[in-house]
Amino acid sequence: MNSFGSNLRRQPLVALAAAPLVALAATLAAQVSPPANPPASAAPGPAPAVDQHGPTIKETYAQCFLIGMAGDVPGNYSDAEIGLIRENFGVVTPENCMKPAPVHPAEDTWRFERPDALVKWCRENNLLVHGHTLVWHAQTNPWFFQGGDKAVITGRLKDHIATLVGRYNGKVRSWDVVNEAINDRGDAETAKTENLRNSRWLQSLGPEFLTLAFRFAHEADPEAELYYNDYGIEAGPKHASSMLLLKRLIKDGAPIHGVGIQGHWSTATVPFDSIDRAIADYKALGLKVSISELDVTIRGASGGQFGPGFGGRGGPVTPPSAQDLRAQAEAYARVFSIFAKHKDAVERVTFWGLSDRRTWRFGQHPLVFDADNQRKPAYVAIVDAMRQPKADSDKPR
Ligand code: XIL
Repeated sequence: MNSFGSNLRRQPLVALAAAPLVALAATLAAQVSPPANPPASAAPGPAPAVDQHGPTIKETYAQCFLIGMAGDVPGNYSDAEIGLIRENFGVVTPENCMKPAPVHPAEDTWRFERPDALVKWCRENNLLVHGHTLVWHAQTNPWFFQGGDKAVITGRLKDHIATLVGRYNGKVRSWDVVNEAINDRGDAETAKTENLRNSRWLQSLGPEFLTLAFRFAHEADPEAELYYNDYGIEAGPKHASSMLLLKRLIKDGAPIHGVGIQGHWSTATVPFDSIDRAIADYKALGLKVSISELDVTIRGASGGQFGPGFGGRGGPVTPPSAQDLRAQAEAYARVFSIFAKHKDAVERVTFWGLSDRRTWRFGQHPLVFDADNQRKPAYVAIVDAMRQPKADSDKPR
């Protein structure tokens, strides 16, 4: 076990019930959620800090938007994880297996085993699939750009998209067509431009590579919803650039239906007001919005420094404090209130991963299930954020 919390959970509850230890027990209960089904023989312990059996986020927000997770399911997920996915999510984004490098490593080589298994499993389990991602600067092998002129590279782009989108026509409801085309750093000057990333796609095909990609995807599946997806586009110069880019795509007739705000945020710095305004801005362009890769990390400084295992697996991980979990829960509740306010525009909110074990931000506790698949305070806070207004209006006046 590489989670300190998991070790704590193994302590006998009877010891925690002893009078001098009540305060400690309360602290521990707040830090770690108890097992979903404590053994009948266990002595009564402190009340569970987090209700493991209340309404799901998926059902609570069913009238607003889809709730999704990212993962290369069914892969090596445990039975418990598979159960969690089926109960809690309505749509799956393949975390890696449909990206250009894994699925199309060489011009004449396709690896469809994992994407096929994912699409099949999702259909059998009543989960929708959001495809990710057709055109990206990362996880894309160099063969796309080697030894070819503009016409050849355009042909490769078209073949890649036509083959992949065509294979899952009618089975993948929506696609991230272009991922992360805008530069990270920006200022007042770049905010007046699209500030496109100097990727091999831009170098090879110019700014039209985005329009072409959307056209090719639409040809391959005219029913699929097509997204531009990026991080940090909700705020500052990058938001301004995103608006210019999206306006250009729309003006040029690119079949674009939505924009994905990835949503990789940190508890202490979530840009709430910018998120609120950005969703309204995109909606004003006639686009749908998805929060496509949501995770809200817990700040590193609070529980001591991360050990050498930070960012990887197997090393020491500092557990979140009760205060960390509360702050994270508040941040999650606030962003979900913003998403719900814009439910006419927001069509999907997808968590990037499943749990604090199944996350690319391992060690930063970013998701709403802990490393042992237990609901965290953030889970309940998200549910309460939706139910609270209703409860208030039910009160006698
Ligand atoms: C990440 C995956 O989660 C990792 O497993 C992989 O090693 C790298 O990519 N933005 C994206 C996602 O659009 O595809 C990235 O996913 C996270 C950032």
